[in-house]
Amino acid sequence: MNESEKPALWDRYRDPDLTELSSRSEVIDLQLRHRSVRAYLPDPVPDQLLTAVVAAAQSASTTSNLQAWSVVVVRDDARKARLAGLAGGQAFIEQAPVLLVWLVDLARLRRLADDHGAPLAATDYLETTIIGFVDVGLAAQNAALAAESLGLGVVFIGAMRDNPEAVADELRLPPGTFAAFGMSLGFPDLTESAAVKPRLPQAAVVHHETYDLDKQPAAVAAYEERMASFYAEQELAVSWTQRVLNRLAGPQSLKGRDRIREALTAQGLPSR
Ligand SMILES: Cc1cc2nc3c(=O)[nH]c(=O)nc-3n(C[C@H](O)[C@H](O)[C@H](O)COP(=O)(O)O)c2cc1C
Repeated sequence: MNESEKPALWDRYRDPDLTELSSRSEVIDLQLRHRSVRAYLPDPVPDQLLTAVVAAAQSASTTSNLQAWSVVVVRDDARKARLAGLAGGQAFIEQAPVLLVWLVDLARLRRLADDHGAPLAATDYLETTIIGFVDVGLAAQNAALAAESLGLGVVFIGAMRDNPEAVADELRLPPGTFAAFGMSLGFPDLTESAAVKPRLPQAAVVHHETYDLDKQPAAVAAYEERMASFYAEQELAVSWTQRVLNRLAGPQSLKGRDRIREALTAQGLPSR
């Protein structure tokens, strides 16, 4: 086995049955090494890097080439601080030199229809909102991988949906747009004690021909064993299962996001 392969694949799964990939590439190696970065150096992110990251984002597939997303680049310290306050007070949002706020964007398409005096009634349906969320997720992940390939670090910020109306006010979002999530971007502070986080065994997520729910308990049990060693190294006490159960216990664990339907409607995004 190639020495540079083993650690990345091992760290990703800690699975004794999956220690080698016979097919690999530089892209896959980079993906295997991904970890969220929550500590940043103060060094600014040059505009040229940002342009390359956005080019990667725009290279993602997009439903019917609608390109129903946009991104707001926030560098202003005061604005970042206000947005951090709206997103659970997470300190890394202020520390990172750039905050990207990824938007579902139907406003551009509605403006296009207005300018042509054309109907756009399909945007009144939930399907079009789903298109926006799917496409912005694909674009943002392309951006994340591109950033990592340039030596930058990122973390996604779902907490940007904790207070959607206030985030919309802060960014002056017009009707038809919605902040799907944020992403901190900057050069990683390598003294951060963080590591590649193992994922579920492939047996849990890959089904052949038809779905098999009965294999899940064994796969999850194997994962818990591997995560126990990861959490011990990170000095974290709570198991994966307990984290999942806490995260999804009830509306209170959604931290304000139980109101997301109203917030979408207020921003002119449909849910029917
Ligand atoms: C859409 C999305 C929203 C997230 N929101 C947050 C967040 O608000 N705060 C945070 O610290 N991490 C957030 N994360 C990062 C996840 O916790 C992280 O990706 C996951 O634990 C796996 O760890 P890894 O990225 O290091 O592999 C988010 C990730 C995604 C994809």
